[in-house]
Parts: sequence; C-alpha cells; structure tokens
Amino acid sequence: MLTNSEKRYGAVAVTLHWLIAIGIIGMLILGKYMADLPRADPSRFELIQLHKSFGITILALSVLRVLWRLVNKVPPLPPQMPAWQRYAANASHFLLYVLILAIPLSGWAMVSASPLGIPTIWFGQFEIPHLPGLQGFADQHAVEGQLRETHELLGNLMIGLLIIHIGAALKHHFWDRDDVLIRMLPFTRVK
Ligand code: HEM
Ligand code: HEM
Repeated sequence: MLTNSEKRYGAVAVTLHWLIAIGIIGMLILGKYMADLPRADPSRFELIQLHKSFGITILALSVLRVLWRLVNKVPPLPPQMPAWQRYAANASHFLLYVLILAIPLSGWAMVSASPLGIPTIWFGQFEIPHLPGLQGFADQHAVEGQLRETHELLGNLMIGLLIIHIGAALKHHFWDRDDVLIRMLPFTRVK
C-alpha cells in the first residue's frame, strides 16, 4: 500500500522517512568531519560541495515529505500510551519536521551570505541559485558567521532529538512490545 492505513505507515511515508533519516545522519557525520578539517586541507572544498548537493536533495525530499504528511493521515498511536507520551511523541515529531527543513535552509542561507560567493553546483550538473536578500550587508562576514552558528546549533539540536527519537522507538519495540517500530519499517506486516 502506498498510503498510510489505520495500522501502519504506507510505502511513500516509509521510503521518505528512511531516505531522509539515512541522509540526515550521514550529513551530520560529514558536517562534523568537514568542520574539523584544517581550512587548507585539500579534500575540504570537494567535501563541502558534496555536502551542499546532498543537503539540497534532502531539503527537496523533506518538502515532499511534509506535503505528504499534510494530505495523508498517520496511523493513531497505541491506545494504551499515557497522555504525556502522546504529547511528547507529537511535539518531537513536529520538531523533527521543522529541523529537516530548517537545517538545510540555514546551510543554504549560509553559503548564500558568504562574501566568497562560491556557487552550489548540484552534483556537478546545474547551478542552484543563492537565496535572495542575503548580500549587500555592511559586515558580510558577520552575517555568514551568524548563519554558520545557526546551522551548527540546529545540527546539534537534531543530534539530541535523534537520540531521544531512537531511544523511544527502541523502547516501544523491546519494552512496550507494540507495533510502533514495525509499522515504520519496510517489508514488515502488522497484525
Ligand atoms: C534524522 C533521522 C530521523 C528523522 C528526521 C526522523 C523523523 C521522524 C518523524 C518526523 C516522524 C513522524 C512521522 C509522522 O508524521 O507520524 C518519525 C516517525 C518514526 N520514526 Fe523517525 N526519524 C529519524 C530516524 C529514525 C530512526 C533511526 C528510527 C529507528 C530507530 C526511527 C523510528 C521511527 C518510528 C518507529 C516512527 C513512527 C512513530 C509512530 O508510529 O508514531 N526514526 N520519524
Ligand atoms: C540536509 C541537512 C544538513 C545537515 C544535517 C547538515 C549538517 C552540518 C553540520 C553538522 C555541519 C558542521 C557544523 C559544525 O559543527 O561546525 C555542517 C557544516 C556545513 N554545512 Fe551543512 N548540513 C545540511 C545541509 C546543508 C546545506 C543544504 C548546505 C548548503 C547548501 C550546507 C552547507 C554547509 C557548509 C558550507 C558547512 C561548513 C561550515 C564551515 O565549517 O565553514 N549544509 N553541516
């Protein structure tokens, strides 16, 4: 089934969830690795180009995902879940949606504000334009620096939230023994 049912997430939601999850986790690792390299490291430039191309791709997938979320109802949480856990699940999912959009957008804004004006060429194929309104400031370096800090902060927030998210998924599976993890996994059946 492509769409979600009362019991499980459908193929579209599952595919987007896991593509974006692998993408974001890979990008967090790549981002931290790149940021730690010395400025003069010869691989730094190429890695940043790759990071930008993957990042824009993840942004496009995330927009699709949010639109799909708005038109396709998700399966209800297990009825035995206490109210505070329902609230925590909904709030953290909402924040995760905000972050999968805000992290790549802040990265895109950072490179758009850079005084160096290095273009973003999507996997060497075509140019992604810079975001408008981010050039022409008196202190262009400071604007870029603020956006770099925002990008880093949002990335760190994602790492924290992801630890909670994964912990919650594992708790549902091994402690509560409900279908919450299974229904988001591909190639599984929910009774
Ligand atoms: C950066 C990586 C990830 C992001 C951004 C992310 C984001 C999300 C979001 C936004 C939802 C809510 C879906 C809805 O609208 O109902 C969700 C659900 C879910 N995620 Fe993730 N996720 C990530 C990684 C993971 C990982 C690694 C696991 C497994 C260990 C996981 C397990 C689940 C499960 C089981 C659900 C379903 C919850 C439910 O049924 O209500 N996620 N995820
Ligand atoms: C899609 C999700 C993305 C994630 C999870 C992500 C994550 C990260 C992380 C963790 C860092 C290292 C920050 C630090 O600790 O100092 C970083 C650096 C960077 N990101 Fe991203 N990023 C994403 C998308 C993007 C996009 C779309 C762009 C631009 C189009 C971008 C441009 C950059 C640049 C240029 C740096 C290097 C900053 C520097 O050290 O000078 N990122 N990213």
